[in-house]
Amino acid sequence: MRILSITLFVISEILVLARCKKILGIYSHPGKSHQVLGEVILKKLAERGHNITMVSAYPLKTPVENYKDVFLDGFLEDINADGSIYLEMEKHDLQNFMGTYELIRRFTNKTFAHPAMQSLIKSGDKFDLIVMDWFCKDAELFYGNIFEAPIILTSSFGTQNELNYLINNPEPYSYVPASGFAYTDEMGFLDRLGNTLAVLFVEAFLFRNEIQQQMILDRYFDNAPRIWELRRNIDLIFTNAHPTFETPRPYLPNIIPIGGVHVQEPQLLPLNIQEFLDSAQNGAVYFSLGSHMKTSELPEDILYNIVRAFSKVQQKVLLKWEKDEKPKLPLNVMVGKWMPQNSILAHPNVKVFITHGGLMSKIEAIHYATPMIGIPVFGDQKTNVIHSVQEGIAVQLSLSELSEKALVSAINEIINNSSYSRNIQKKSNLLRDQPMVPIDTAIYWAEFVMRHNGSKHLQNKSMRLNKFQNLLLDVALTLIGVLVLIVFIFRKVFVFALKLPISATVIRTRTRKIKLKEN
Ligand SMILES: *[C@@H]1O[C@H](CO)[C@@H](O)[C@H](O)[C@H]1NC(C)=O
Ligand SMILES: *[C@@H]1O[C@H](CO)[C@@H](O)[C@H](O)[C@H]1NC(C)=O
Ligand SMILES: *[C@@H]1O[C@H](CO)[C@@H](O)[C@H](O)[C@H]1NC(C)=O
Ligand SMILES: *[C@@H]1O[C@H](CO)[C@@H](O)[C@H](O)[C@H]1NC(C)=O
Ligand SMILES: *[C@@H]1O[C@H](CO)[C@@H](O)[C@H](O)[C@H]1NC(C)=O
Ligand SMILES: *[C@@H]1O[C@H](CO)[C@@H](O)[C@H](O)[C@H]1NC(C)=O
Repeated sequence: MRILSITLFVISEILVLARCKKILGIYSHPGKSHQVLGEVILKKLAERGHNITMVSAYPLKTPVENYKDVFLDGFLEDINADGSIYLEMEKHDLQNFMGTYELIRRFTNKTFAHPAMQSLIKSGDKFDLIVMDWFCKDAELFYGNIFEAPIILTSSFGTQNELNYLINNPEPYSYVPASGFAYTDEMGFLDRLGNTLAVLFVEAFLFRNEIQQQMILDRYFDNAPRIWELRRNIDLIFTNAHPTFETPRPYLPNIIPIGGVHVQEPQLLPLNIQEFLDSAQNGAVYFSLGSHMKTSELPEDILYNIVRAFSKVQQKVLLKWEKDEKPKLPLNVMVGKWMPQNSILAHPNVKVFITHGGLMSKIEAIHYATPMIGIPVFGDQKTNVIHSVQEGIAVQLSLSELSEKALVSAINEIINNSSYSRNIQKKSNLLRDQPMVPIDTAIYWAEFVMRHNGSKHLQNKSMRLNKFQNLLLDVALTLIGVLVLIVFIFRKVFVFALKLPISATVIRTRTRKIKLKEN
C-alpha cells in the first residue's frame, strides 16, 4: 500500500514537472505601462507552476514563488533623468515622434550591453517560451534564436501600424487610423488623404528604425540574421485592445486581443485614502499624470494654476505627488506619493479622473466607468485623449497652456453634464462582458504555444515574400512580358506571310482595301 502511494506520488510529481515550463520574460523598455502587461501575465503563469525568469527594470517589490527577476539596473534612472524632455515632446509632434524612436534605439542597445543580460545570454540557458514587450525593437527578436524558444509579443499600445508592419497584418488606410494621429475610423476625403500620408510617414520611420536595429544587432553578434528573417520568430501577439478603445480592424489569427488584462480586482484602500473618499459628499477628483510625468516636477506656474483650480471646486481632490516637501494646499486636497490607482478609480465617489491619457489609465477609467479630463503629454497619449473626447467620455486640456479657469470649467462640465458618465458606463458594460476574462485568454494561448512548440502555422505566409512578390509585381511583369512576346510573334508571322506570293487570300483582301480607299 505504502509503496503504491509513493509510486503514485512520484508519478504525479513527474507529471507536474512535465507540465511546468521555463518561461523568459523580456521587458527591456523601462516604461511602466509596458512592464505592467508582462508582469500580470507572467505572475499568473508563475501561479500555475511555471518557472519564470523576468528581465526588466522593475523587479518585484514582494517576491512571488517561481518568479525570478533579472534586474536591468540603471534603466529607470536613465529614462527619468530629464523630465523636461516630456514637456518638449508635448509641444512638438515631430519631436515626440523622433524622441520615441531615439528612446527605442538607445534602450535596445543598452539591453544587449547590460551585464545582467550578457550573463543570461552566456549562461546557455534555454526556455520553452519567451514573453516579450513589443516596442519596435526588432533586434530583440534574436532572443528567440539565442534561447531557442517561441516568442509571444505583448503590445501595450494596441494594434498600431508598427505592429501591422511587423507581421503583415492588413491595415486599410481608408478606415484604420494611423497610429499617433488624430484620425478616427470615419474619414472624409481629406482625412483619408491625410491618413494615407500619415501611415506612409510612419512606415518611413519604421524603415529607418529597422536599419538602426540591424546595426545594433550586428554590433553585438557576428553573422546575425537579417531583421526580416527574425520576424518569422514571432508566434503570437497579445495586443492591448478591445472594441471599447480600439476601432474595429482586421486581426490575423496570431493576434490575440487581451485589452483589460491588467485591471486588477480592487484592493482595500489605505485607511486615510478610504476615509478621505468616503467623506467626499460632492464627489472626488483623482489627479495623476502617470509614472513618467511627475506632478511635483511640473513648471511652477502650471502647478499654481492647478492648485488654485482645486481650491475653487466643491469636490475633494486626490493628487499624486512624488516629493516629500508639499506645496501649500487647499483643505479639500490630499496628496500621496503612492496611489493605488486601480482601487481609487473603483471607489464610487470618484467622479473625475484627471489623466495624461496613457492607454493603461484609459482602460482602467473605462473599466470603472470614471469620466476623464485628458492632459496628454507624449507618445500615444494625445491620440487616446482625442478619441476619448470624440466618444464623449472625456474633456481635453493642454498642459503647457493649462489655466485655472479651464480646469475648473472642465471639472464642472463633467460633474454637471451626465452624458460623460452615461457614455463611459456603456463602455464599461461592454468591456466587462467577454466570453473569457482577458487574463484567462492570455494564459490559454501562452500554454497553447508551449504545448505545440510554437504556433507559426498562424502566421501570414506572405511574410516569406518580399514587397515586390507580395504585390505580385513579378507575376504581373511576367504576364506583360508574355503578352508582349505573343504580340511580337504574331506580328512577325503576319509580316512574313504578307511577303509570300502564294498567300492569295491575303493579297486579295489587301487589294480590296486599297480599292476601297481609292473610292
Ligand atoms: C527555474 O529556471 C531558472 C533559470 O533557468 C533555474 O536557475 C532554476 O533552477 C529553475 N527552477 C526550478 C525550480 O526549476
Ligand atoms: C551602443 O552603445 C555603445 C556604448 O555602449 C555605443 O558606443 C554605440 O555607439 C551604440 N550604438 C548605437 C547604434 O546606438
Ligand atoms: C497577409 O499579408 C498580405 C501582404 O501584406 C496582405 O495583403 C494580406 O491581406 C494578409 N493576409 C491576411 C489573411 O490578413
Ligand atoms: C456646475 O455645478 C457647479 C457645482 O458643482 C456649479 O457651481 C456650477 O454653476 C454648475 N455649472 C453649470 C454650467 O451648470
Ligand atoms: C453635455 O455634453 C455633451 C457632450 O459633450 C454635449 O453634446 C451636450 O450638449 C452637453 N449637455 C449640456 C446640457 O451641456
Ligand atoms: C515539442 O518539443 C519537444 C522537445 O523537443 C518534443 O518532445 C515534443 O514532442 C514536441 N511537441 C510537439 C507537439 O511537437
